[in-house]
Amino acid sequence: MLVSAKEMLEKAVEGHYAVGQFNINNLEWTKAILLTAEECKSPVILGVSEGAGKYMSGFKTVQAMVSAMVDELGITVPVATHLDHGSYDGCLKCIDAGFTSIMFDGSKYPIEENVAKTKELIAICKEKGMSIEAEVGAIGGEEDGVIGQGECADPQECKMIADLGVDMLAAGIGNIHGKYPENWAGLSFETLDAIQQLTGKMPLVLHGGTGIPDDMVKKAIDLGVAKINVNTDCQLSFADATRKYIEAGKDLEGKGFDPRKLLKPGTDAIMQTVKEKMELFGSVGKA
Ligand code: G3H
Ligand code: ZN
Repeated sequence: MLVSAKEMLEKAVEGHYAVGQFNINNLEWTKAILLTAEECKSPVILGVSEGAGKYMSGFKTVQAMVSAMVDELGITVPVATHLDHGSYDGCLKCIDAGFTSIMFDGSKYPIEENVAKTKELIAICKEKGMSIEAEVGAIGGEEDGVIGQGECADPQECKMIADLGVDMLAAGIGNIHGKYPENWAGLSFETLDAIQQLTGKMPLVLHGGTGIPDDMVKKAIDLGVAKINVNTDCQLSFADATRKYIEAGKDLEGKGFDPRKLLKPGTDAIMQTVKEKMELFGSVGKA
């Protein structure tokens, strides 16, 4: 069932768990995540970066693929199609393509401009019944060409953006996209706590969900994180399983080079990763 992310995240805040956003890149990724969500009876958010959208031919192709897959696979759990780290123009394209949710990443703008652009997009989303995520304080590391510094967000700025009426708020709390460096200082729970105190029941979003120790993830959920974004972990699982298949020479046995066989170990590995994350986030059985 394709829905906006609003209701599933409000329920997550009430129930003290988090919904996973898993980024998709192609048909196999999408199918793996949808089937796992159904098996786990978990709500799920499919994240689509602008780069991944382009790779899949465009946002209309993505929306049509997800929508048809939800129907033909008989997916009954709530599923949102969500633009990840969107530019203003990217947001407009996804609204036009029929996505159920967008993230406007205005963190690179001065706060006044971030506010103005976020406000315009909120008005459109409300009218269309879509949910919208905003970001304050750049998230570290690099994702799809977007490079963040990893600084902590200003809790007052978070309140300012939250009060505009967004449905979820991504705030930098020392989190980083991709693999965490050895000398990473960890999440700033002090910042997260201050943001939560000021924004109340606003679902908070933790980006860079790959490689954060489980105890930190659980503590973040306790402090109001209701959506956790995972991308790199699925890519690593997929690459690792595919490499093992090829290194074992399985692609050369029988019809092992058939893409339906070649891509299966990687697809199964994504399913396993998504399942483990859903269990950690506490969203299993919540659909
Ligand atoms: O927006 C997507 C994410 O924040 C994913 O981060 O690649 O570190 O898991 P990750
Ligand atoms: Zn992110």
